[in-house]
Amino acid sequence: MKKLLILSIMALAACNPKLKPNHKDATPVADVNNSLTEEKSLYESKCVMCHNLKNPSGKSAEQWNKIVPRMAAKAANKGKSITTEEQAKILKYLVAMSSK
Ligand code: HEC
Repeated sequence: MKKLLILSIMALAACNPKLKPNHKDATPVADVNNSLTEEKSLYESKCVMCHNLKNPSGKSAEQWNKIVPRMAAKAANKGKSITTEEQAKILKYLVAMSSK
């Protein structure tokens, strides 16, 4: 009888959801990877200072890698800064949208 009581307590504990780890607070990986909102808005604010926005899919990743630092240098010459960190973010967005 005593043995049965211990067994049923163990069974209850195993079924109690409160004793299981809670994964609800974890951020889904897809959400983190897919949102380039900040990168996009930086591109839209920084790359429109001298000309209209260029089509991101109009260039390859390789081309954007050369163009972004070139444009940042032009900006610096005009006293309009695009920081290294901002360039990296803009590039991340352009490469994601590029023709390849
Ligand atoms: C300080 C002014 C200035 C800023 C800021 C600027 N550009 Fe430009 N951009 C120019 C000028 C001037 C040209 C035309 C001469 C040339 O191509 O070098 C140009 C040309 C371009 C071209 C065409 C070049 C080609 O080889 O086809 C692209 C693409 C471009 N810019 C993208 C960008 C992007 C992306 C940004 C933001 C990171 C940006 N620009 C910011 C001045 C600027």
